[in-house]
Amino acid sequence: MITINRRELILGTSVIGLNTLLPPRSWAGGIDDIPRSDYGFATTAEEVAANIDLTGKTVFISGCNSGLGYESMRVMADRGAHVIGAARNMEKAVTSCESIEGKTTPVVCELTDFDSVVACSERVKSLDEPIDILMNNAGIMALPKLEQVYGLEKQFVVNHLGHFLLTNLLLSRVEAASEGRIVVMSSIGYRNAPKKEGIQFDNLSGEKSYSPFVAYGQTKLANALFAFELARRYEGTSVAANAVHPGFVATELGRHMRGGKPRDPDEPLRKGFKTTDQGASTQVYVAIEPALKGVSGYYFEDCNPVEPTGPHMHDTELAAKLWQVSEELTADYLS
Ligand SMILES: NC(=O)c1ccc[n+]([C@@H]2O[C@H](COP(=O)([O-])OP(=O)(O)OC[C@H]3O[C@@H](n4cnc5c(N)ncnc54)[C@H](OP(=O)(O)O)[C@@H]3O)[C@@H](O)[C@H]2O)c1
Repeated sequence: MITINRRELILGTSVIGLNTLLPPRSWAGGIDDIPRSDYGFATTAEEVAANIDLTGKTVFISGCNSGLGYESMRVMADRGAHVIGAARNMEKAVTSCESIEGKTTPVVCELTDFDSVVACSERVKSLDEPIDILMNNAGIMALPKLEQVYGLEKQFVVNHLGHFLLTNLLLSRVEAASEGRIVVMSSIGYRNAPKKEGIQFDNLSGEKSYSPFVAYGQTKLANALFAFELARRYEGTSVAANAVHPGFVATELGRHMRGGKPRDPDEPLRKGFKTTDQGASTQVYVAIEPALKGVSGYYFEDCNPVEPTGPHMHDTELAAKLWQVSEELTADYLS
């Protein structure tokens, strides 16, 4: 067992030394040795959790009040987990937590407000429980016009940077679990990230150019690279991190493309789309499936590991640079 000083781990110092000892590895590649399931496109979260007892496990989920986060929370609480459900305000968190069976704790986490992220982490740490599953689920997609927070493009802040900060602030709790799993919601939309650079570090403000789906794709690439870099830093420890694409799912994610209007519940499911209970299956599978013990640094679709396409998802240098830049951007809140 390798022991790592957590602060050094976050700052990346001891890790450089550690990684010189490890064989080189292309993250998200080499999926042949990873256990496969018989689950697929239409599997529901309830089905993957059916025979798994989560009593004694603590789960944190961001974006618990809607779509995939709500369904994941519902299913894992039903299986006996204590789910800490985070929403942008207490009313949403309480309403969603109270609407399901099982043990839940509502907390506030507004990812565009780093003071709120810090306060959330303090509240979670005050519960004094190891976090067995940290599910970075909240997200926004394709804002029609450029919006900024802290001078940065808003999707980058909500989808990646806020979760980067939150995760780092909660890492000690994940390390305290016997088998801590970090599940990061990515998307096949990573393929829309800027073709040449993957992450445009010289355009994180979005001011040089802005395209709604390219900006979203960049954040979903960032989500996956964050999971892979976590996996690299925690290799040989009890902490695992993986990235998930849930499929195309009929949730509220498309609200910005509808001018903020909610989805019509009577709208028929479009071809190739999943229902929410089907969509939540992969993140729940990666979070709880016993066969995936120790599996870390992979990208999953339809409850199975998938080799991502294109160069950026395998780019360890890009992942390391993203970590370094994210650390600089959140430095005032990280200590
Ligand atoms: N649905 C799909 O087809 C699909 C495909 C690929 C990937 N994903 C990913 O899956 C994840 C879940 O999406 P979903 O489909 O369940 O969408 P959703 O129904 O729109 O849920 C998104 C959740 O994120 C929360 N959120 C938004 N902005 C936030 C902020 N500033 N701070 C904190 N929380 C915030 C929302 O809270 P409010 O309700 O208060 O706004 C909501 O709880 C996202 O990361 C998304 O990128 C989804």
